[in-house]
Amino acid sequence: MADAVLGIETSCDETSAAVLVSGELASLVILSQDIHKVFGGVVPELASRAHLAALPAVVDRALAEAGLAPSAIDAVAVTAGPGLAGALLVGVVYAKSFAFAGDRALIGVHHMEGHLFAPALEDRDLAPPFVALLVSGGHTLLLDVPAWGRYRLLGETRDDAAGEAFDKVATLLGLGYPGGPAIEKLAPEGDPSRFTFPRPMMAEGFEFSFSGLKTAVLHAVRATDDLERDRADLARGFQDAVLDVLVTKLERAVRSTGYSTAVLGGGVACSRALSARAAERLAGVARVAVASPRLNADNAAMIARAGWHRLRLGERSDWTLDARADLPLPGLEMSETTHDARRTASP
Ligand code: KG4
Ligand code: ZN
Repeated sequence: MADAVLGIETSCDETSAAVLVSGELASLVILSQDIHKVFGGVVPELASRAHLAALPAVVDRALAEAGLAPSAIDAVAVTAGPGLAGALLVGVVYAKSFAFAGDRALIGVHHMEGHLFAPALEDRDLAPPFVALLVSGGHTLLLDVPAWGRYRLLGETRDDAAGEAFDKVATLLGLGYPGGPAIEKLAPEGDPSRFTFPRPMMAEGFEFSFSGLKTAVLHAVRATDDLERDRADLARGFQDAVLDVLVTKLERAVRSTGYSTAVLGGGVACSRALSARAAERLAGVARVAVASPRLNADNAAMIARAGWHRLRLGERSDWTLDARADLPLPGLEMSETTHDARRTASP
């Protein structure tokens, strides 16, 4: 039985390791790579090198904080994709070596499945069926989850991911990278009535689109004669528009499935504004399950948790496990609604 699981996450710019014992979090170490701030975004080659330099020490620290020797680890769970190819490879190669050297079980985990499992680290009773809205820098997924490991895609983004929109708009406003936290901090100071931005595709369906909204902010930034004065109002108008779209689609999905739980996950779910609005909109309809910000941003605890679930089902990866930048979500089925949306979208 794989009871002590070492989790490893290196898909983007966080080098992270965690230890999970019988499903309980024993330690979590997250090292955020500062170097990318200088460039205003993640530089893939620098991310790989920084992971390579830091990962052994991050793993040692996670083991020490859990009070466990390497020999006490039964299994290794590692993010195998999606993400930056070189960055993922560092984690996968390390995990394979660690597992092989100690004759341990190995399991490759999909990064977004990790985000989906994050709330289960703090809420052991969390169980499907539920609707999940997973919003990160690379993905915007609305899922019907009838059971762990079975995912029906209700909708996703046709262009930018929600987090990507936050990051691009933050750059337009001169707020630096990563943009989400900076916008969330500034937005409450803004006047919500000064800028009303479009709510793309909000009227119907489960699909998302954020690139038009980003362009609308760009035009507003170009039109202002005093960005200093308008910055908070623009941040407020943008955040209100994104959250309105996200929460409207989430509520539609909850009502159409009839489920009584909604899960929020991914880096954008660090936003207290998002979880508060979702809880407000779904009051009396569904409870909103969301992990603490530390577990919603990229971290190895969620990878260990998703891996532990699959290990308990007897799943194992073999030594051919490879990093895949475009790894598909295991167990993902298209729903009829998604098929319909795609048909109408294609020319
Ligand atoms: O899941 P994540 O840490 O990394 C990826 O898998 O991409 O998500 C990062 C994204 C970034 O785009 C960041 O701006 C966004 O999450 N984010 C937020 C907040 N905190 C992080 N977006 C809005 N509000 C926040 N408080
Ligand atoms: Zn992520």
